[in-house]
Amino acid sequence: MKRFFDKTVLLTKFYNFWIIYGSPANFSYWWNFGSMALICLIIQIATGIFLAMHYKSDLNLAFASVDYICKSVQYGWLIRYLHSNGASVFFLVVYLHMIRSLLFGSFNYPRQLLWGSGVIIFVLMIVTAFFWLCFTLRSNELLSSNCYY
Ligand code: HEM
Repeated sequence: MKRFFDKTVLLTKFYNFWIIYGSPANFSYWWNFGSMALICLIIQIATGIFLAMHYKSDLNLAFASVDYICKSVQYGWLIRYLHSNGASVFFLVVYLHMIRSLLFGSFNYPRQLLWGSGVIIFVLMIVTAFFWLCFTLRSNELLSSNCYY
C-alpha cells in the first residue's frame, strides 16, 4: 500500500497528512461538531443572502415581503424555513461543541486562546440572533395564520 502512495509527491503528501498524521487517542465523534457548526454557518449565510434579496426591513413592507417570499419566490418557503430552523440547529450544534470542549478540558493550555475566541463567537451569535429575531418577529406573528408552507 505504501508503495502506491510513494509514486507521486501529491500521493505522498496525501498519505502523510491523512493516513499517518498523528492525532490524540481520545478523538471521538464528538469532534465532528466543530465542522458541523461550520456547515450550519455556511447554510445560514447562503440562505440569508437569498432571503435578503426579497426581504424589506421597512415596518410597512416587512409583512408583505415575507409573504411574497413564502408564496411567490420559487422555493422561497424552503429557503425561509431552512434559515429559521437552521438557526436553531446551529445553536444546538454549537452548544454540543461547547459541552464537548468543557467535558474534554479543551479550554485548558495550550487551547485557552482558542476557547476565548470561541466565547467571542458565541456572544456574537447571540447578539446576531437576538437582533434578527427582533426585526423579523413582527412579520412572523402576522404570518403564522397566513403562511401555509
Ligand atoms: C461558528 C461557530 C464555531 C465553529 C464553526 C467552530 C469550529 C471548530 C472546528 C472546526 C474545530 C476543530 C474540530 C473540533 O474540535 O470540533 C473547533 C475546535 C474548538 N472549538 Fe470551535 N467552533 C465554533 C464555536 C465555538 C465556541 C462557541 C467555542 C467555545 C466557547 C469553541 C471552542 C472550541 C475549542 C476549545 C476547540 C478545540 C477543541 C480541541 O482541539 O480539543 N468553538 N471549532
